[in-house]
Amino acid sequence: MILAIETSCDDTCAAIVTRAGEIRSNVIASQGLLHARYGGVVPEIASRHHLELVDAVTADALERAGARLDDLDTVAVTRGPGLIGALLVGLSSAKALAASRRLPLAPVDHLHGHVVASTLGPDPVEPPYVCLVASGGHTFLARGDDPAAYTVLGQTLDDAAGEAFDKGARLLGLDYPGGPAIDRLAREGDPDAFDFPRSAPGDLDFSFSGLKTSLLYRLREQPDADRADLAASYQRAIVEALVDRTRAALDREGLERLAVGGGVAANTELRAAVEDLGVPVWVPPVELCTDNAAMIAGAARFLEPLSYPDYLGLDAGARLA
Ligand code: KG4
Ligand code: ZN
Repeated sequence: MILAIETSCDDTCAAIVTRAGEIRSNVIASQGLLHARYGGVVPEIASRHHLELVDAVTADALERAGARLDDLDTVAVTRGPGLIGALLVGLSSAKALAASRRLPLAPVDHLHGHVVASTLGPDPVEPPYVCLVASGGHTFLARGDDPAAYTVLGQTLDDAAGEAFDKGARLLGLDYPGGPAIDRLAREGDPDAFDFPRSAPGDLDFSFSGLKTSLLYRLREQPDADRADLAASYQRAIVEALVDRTRAALDREGLERLAVGGGVAANTELRAAVEDLGVPVWVPPVELCTDNAAMIAGAARFLEPLSYPDYLGLDAGARLA
């Protein structure tokens, strides 16, 4: 069994996954509410809370899996990208655990974890597939062939899709995180009421910062504009951008399977829109879409871990890809 730890942003996560991809436990301690009053994640607060929570979360993951440290063959951990202070807590903790048992350690790329999330559980996606990952921290399209690696086909050039939801929600006076709030409000609005720009940077890339600015100007020009109509039109623009590029990626790569991940995969309109693409779609349960350690263990299954003591000097990487 693999024990994985993930602390790249504001969720303290630990999971136990078997070599066959069966999830024995997947514990997520969300700090969301702690950061809500600041309207976003405060890196220093995130690091401090990871430090307080990581041991308990790891113990909980073992207990829920009915496993002991003796049952582990590998420790896996997110090495990056993410908030550097937050990453360091998970990495140090994983190193200490692995070293105490002389176990090998697998450093995992967080984005690789998102790409393989759909290969876990009872109905795994079979490579090759296109994967759309849209969260608060990243938005990209990847091609999954060999499960040990992935190829980025396109990515956001500025804001992530979740960030666009969060910033838009803030402009609309809605609470953080904004995605669920816009999703709810949009149900009561007309998505064709306002015409927001769909910027089309290079091939399979995304850009959301112009959209946010456009919402800002619209609110300045029409302070009394219907909030539900604005939310519905704004959401439509984000979802269309995501789905258009996804369709283009499937066509260009000649692939017929799609996996979706990241917190934005919870969006009602996005979920419905990807089902209309005409290819089989895997959207894992929400606890595998948002940041979690099961996906990190999932990726570690396919990686060659570092032996003790080679990993003791390993550093986290905020921008590591
Ligand atoms: O994957 P995630 O939990 O954390 C990051 O790695 O960022 O994603 C969180 C993001 C937030 O920006 C949140 O607003 C967005 O996912 N989100 C949604 C919905 N639920 C969460 N966006 C749109 N519609 C939703 N229903
Ligand atoms: Zn993530």
